[in-house]
Amino acid sequence: MKLKTLTIKIQKKLAWVMINRPKKLNALNSETLAELHHVLVSLEEDNKVRVVVLTATGDTAFVAGADIRELADLTPTDGAALSVQGNQKVFDYIEHYNKPVIAAVNGYALGGGLELAMACHLRVFANTAKVGMPETSLGLIPGYGGTQRLPQLVGRGRAMELLLTGDMISAQRAYEIGLANVICPPAALKSKVQELAAAIVKNAPEAQQQLLAAVCAGFDSQTDGYAAETEAFGACFGTDNFVEGIQAFLHRRKPKF
Ligand code: COA
Repeated sequence: MKLKTLTIKIQKKLAWVMINRPKKLNALNSETLAELHHVLVSLEEDNKVRVVVLTATGDTAFVAGADIRELADLTPTDGAALSVQGNQKVFDYIEHYNKPVIAAVNGYALGGGLELAMACHLRVFANTAKVGMPETSLGLIPGYGGTQRLPQLVGRGRAMELLLTGDMISAQRAYEIGLANVICPPAALKSKVQELAAAIVKNAPEAQQQLLAAVCAGFDSQTDGYAAETEAFGACFGTDNFVEGIQAFLHRRKPKF
């Protein structure tokens, strides 16, 4: 697929996926969602890539939401279908990814933009970023997991406040309520992400794959998270990473994963 709205760079085990529609503040249109799906599928299979970073070009916006122009003529059935498609192809797909995904939030993350950041496993915010869930100002609600992931991340009361007011909050406030893992000056965003990724990459990828699945299982109402953890824990014992990790410890050397 020839990418029109994304730019990809792979450097030292990190894949940087940059949404590149700065004139529209990187709003998510159907083309961008299709491209994101395509890229996520190929990076998931790429053994050279250990961590995926989702970010955007420009210094104004991460993603200013779903593309409002594309929403204008939708019927209730179309709206529900859009939500199902978006979740399957991008938002739930990221949450259930087999390697860690970090959102590097370089500016506005509104509505679907914040939902995209929340679907990622970790979030690094530039301290100039502004985030919010303004859907009700458009007569809508979030449709890409926002009503579920925001309360999971910040608690129900704080989530309700953000969802009902639709007001934007600062990166500092996002950090205080647990929405951002790290905040930093915009110029340090890349190096902060690299630092976080380096701390992840030193550990066992096969164990991290099991870990991501076990944590996700606990948020799935159909699944017993504790049983999923037991299964994932058991599976680790059959991996090369386990052999290497234990041998390295016993021989007082660093593991090579
Ligand atoms: N969908 C489609 N286009 C969008 C967009 C969105 N979610 N957000 C911004 N844009 C477009 C604007 O229409 C404008 O395009 P134009 O130059 O062709 O008119 C361009 O991006 C720049 O946006 P603009 O509003 O002029 O920038 P601003 O600095 O004045 O305001 C925001 C920035 C983020 C406050 C404002 O763009 C905004 O409120 N966007 C919508 C946020 C939203 O409700 N998201 C949830 C969607 S469900």
